[in-house]
Amino acid sequence: MQNFAGNIRLETYRYGCEIYRESNTLRSRILLESLGRSEPASDYDFPDIDIYLGAFLGERLIGTLILTPLDAKTVRMRQLAVDENFRGSGIGKALVEKSEAIARSHGFSLMMLHARVSVLEFYQKLGYERAGERFFEIEIPHWLMQKKLK
Ligand SMILES: CC(C)(COP(=O)(O)OP(=O)(O)OC[C@H]1O[C@@H](n2cnc3c(N)ncnc32)[C@H](O)[C@@H]1OP(=O)(O)O)[C@@H](O)C(=O)NCCC(=O)NCCS
Repeated sequence: MQNFAGNIRLETYRYGCEIYRESNTLRSRILLESLGRSEPASDYDFPDIDIYLGAFLGERLIGTLILTPLDAKTVRMRQLAVDENFRGSGIGKALVEKSEAIARSHGFSLMMLHARVSVLEFYQKLGYERAGERFFEIEIPHWLMQKKLK
């Protein structure tokens, strides 16, 4: 598999811009249509507080992640999705690590997320630990996971 990670640019973008609209298409396809769901991913957004992060190859958006602050110390990572054609070369990991750096720079000390069981190990490799019971969200099993940001 080709390694794209060295050529990737990670940048935040604003709610409503053209990249944001592109990201809706990407995450709707990867996160919802794959489960047979028809609502747009943007239905789950919190435009006033979300921080939108993209992974770009040239001008092309190939991965996304959203940070949603929960309280003064805690931020939730959501909607992580990497284009199927670019997986397995460290882009997901790079998005998570960049989001942690952004969270730290905003003063957050705890990252939490709802992990689909299919990606539990991905998050474990990045230092996330299960917290609490398995639960269902959008009809699929998830684990609550968290990581202290040092
Ligand atoms: C999960 C996802 C973001 C991973 O992106 P990626 O760019 O392929 O991941 P990376 O290449 O950065 O992988 C980093 C490490 O995690 C591992 N990994 C990746 N996906 C994994 C998975 N589903 N299960 C277990 N390990 C996984 C990789 O093998 C790699 O391990 P290494 O560091 O030992 O080499 C991507 O598969 C995806 O978009 N999945 C569908 C959407 C999804 O489920 N999002 C999460 C919702 S909670």
